[in-house]
Amino acid sequence: MNARQDWSAARGAALHGELTVPGDKSVSHRAIMFGALADGVTRIDGFLEGEDTRATAAIFARMGVRIEAPSDGVRIVHGVGLHGLQPPDGPLDCGNAGTAMRLLAGLLAGQRFDSVLVGDESLSKRPMRRVIEPLQAMGAVIESEDGRAPLRIRGGQALRGIDYTLPVASAQLKSALLLAGLYAQGETHVREPHPTRDYSERMLAAFGATCAFVPGEAALLGGFPLQARDVSVPADFSSAAFFIVAASIVPGSELLLRRVGMNPRRTGLLHVLRAMGADIVEEHPDEQGGEPVADLRVRHAPLHGIEVPVEHVPDMIDEFPALFVAAACAQGATVVRGAAELRVKESDRIATMATGLRALGIRVDETADGATIHGGTLGGGAIEAHGDHRIAMAFAVAAQCAQGEVRIGDVANVATSFPGFDALARGAGMRLDAA
Ligand code: S3P
Repeated sequence: MNARQDWSAARGAALHGELTVPGDKSVSHRAIMFGALADGVTRIDGFLEGEDTRATAAIFARMGVRIEAPSDGVRIVHGVGLHGLQPPDGPLDCGNAGTAMRLLAGLLAGQRFDSVLVGDESLSKRPMRRVIEPLQAMGAVIESEDGRAPLRIRGGQALRGIDYTLPVASAQLKSALLLAGLYAQGETHVREPHPTRDYSERMLAAFGATCAFVPGEAALLGGFPLQARDVSVPADFSSAAFFIVAASIVPGSELLLRRVGMNPRRTGLLHVLRAMGADIVEEHPDEQGGEPVADLRVRHAPLHGIEVPVEHVPDMIDEFPALFVAAACAQGATVVRGAAELRVKESDRIATMATGLRALGIRVDETADGATIHGGTLGGGAIEAHGDHRIAMAFAVAAQCAQGEVRIGDVANVATSFPGFDALARGAGMRLDAA
């Protein structure tokens, strides 16, 4: 477990320059998983050197997959084929990574051996029934602690494909079922209440799986092998989001974020910020590893509150901590609805953001599935990130518009998704130090 770390953040300079944020977390997890299950060698460039994605790599190493790390951001995965994983010699530790645990639950349900998935304190509180129940319907045998980790997965089961409509819009859940579907007899068909990020479908198809998909629906035929394929990971939009908001709210800023992943299932925040008045220009649109990327030029602009259209919520599900900060600095009220999933992320993100913003003098009215944030003047104060990486980074950004020092407690988990955030932030002009 990480030793506790705190930050002291305060208003810095206007943000300037160019920066490249680290590789996409979702793509990095999947590249390791599909590379491990494929026949042949997969080279991953732009791999996120975060604790979450390293946990996934370590888990496959423990199941006999050779993974070389010749340099930062590069992994060479020597695939063992769909049936080549070896039984691990003990519980597999997903750390803080919900993506690792949920996707692995599906993948491990199809193995011939037993396995146990464990996680840190936060992950051990997060709901797993949503993945256990449909996997059980496919024939998996999984025991949990009342729907939570540890997950004990019994191997040697014959899985069968199902046609399943997800009760929540969750790419993790969809991906878990598709991974189990690789081992199932027949077709696994997943339908979503709202389309979510489609990296698993795209990558499975690129690795040669029989996977058909349209937004909101995916179908995979079990029993076919995967073929290794190199993966070039784009920069993570969710990491870029903190800098997009910082440059938008700090007067005088102009920042260029290089080659950011622009998968439309990830970029809901851009629509919402633009509707609030933000000045964000997409330059040099390109493609990287089958994903759209673009440079984002962000200039400061006065923001005003809006009602966040509910249809954008799944496309910005990880961006709400950053959006709450933009809303706190905007004129008028911003209303968020239809975002109950925020309550079961690395922390209860509605409650942690509301409590933190209130401590800085902002009025926030919480509801079960959202909040109304009343824009105002941020003062200094002390807030707790509760070990949630995105809460810590959101308040580091908020501090750039605060009138006093903001002390942010329990920030070590920023390394799960964005190692080096503080150095990049300082380089761009933000004031952010270890406390
Ligand atoms: C992810 C899906 C999302 C997101 C998480 C990564 C993924 O979770 O919040 O950070 O890689 O599939 P849900 O599927 O639970 O919405």
